[in-house]
Amino acid sequence: MTNRTFTIIKPNAVAAGNAGKIIDAIIEGGFRVIALRLTYFSRNQAERFYAVHKGKPFFNELVDFMTSGPVYVGVVEHENAVAEFRRLIGATDPAKADEGTIRRRFGESLQCNAIHGSDSDENARIEWSQFFSDDDIIIAEYR
Ligand code: CMP
Repeated sequence: MTNRTFTIIKPNAVAAGNAGKIIDAIIEGGFRVIALRLTYFSRNQAERFYAVHKGKPFFNELVDFMTSGPVYVGVVEHENAVAEFRRLIGATDPAKADEGTIRRRFGESLQCNAIHGSDSDENARIEWSQFFSDDDIIIAEYR
């Protein structure tokens, strides 16, 4: 178990002006933000990031959505980070997410669910490595 996980504040949440409120909720939730950057997904990046969903009926729409505008990508730290972060963001479908969770507050639909959280320590590292080098994270730690 590691104490880091990877997150994306998705295009719908950035476009709606909710990124600041979401970052606030992450910090209020007891997480330390140790890397954060505004970026865009290219189609290649989105297809690679969501490769496990390739072939599913929602795959093409998911890639369209994730490339539709800027996103924030970040690494956050907390004890038992993967599980605790998933608790903070709530169920994949905002309509089924617990009251007060980030997806319940800012998600618009199953696809446009405002935020991503990695589902395992192994995937967290694979995912943040697509956006950050170890140096980016270490530098952020000492700020
Ligand atoms: P996330 O869990 O961050 O990563 C996979 C994403 O695919 C998920 O968030 C949703 O945005 C999207 N997704 C998952 N299941 C569906 C579905 N049945 N229909 C549309 N989008 C989905």
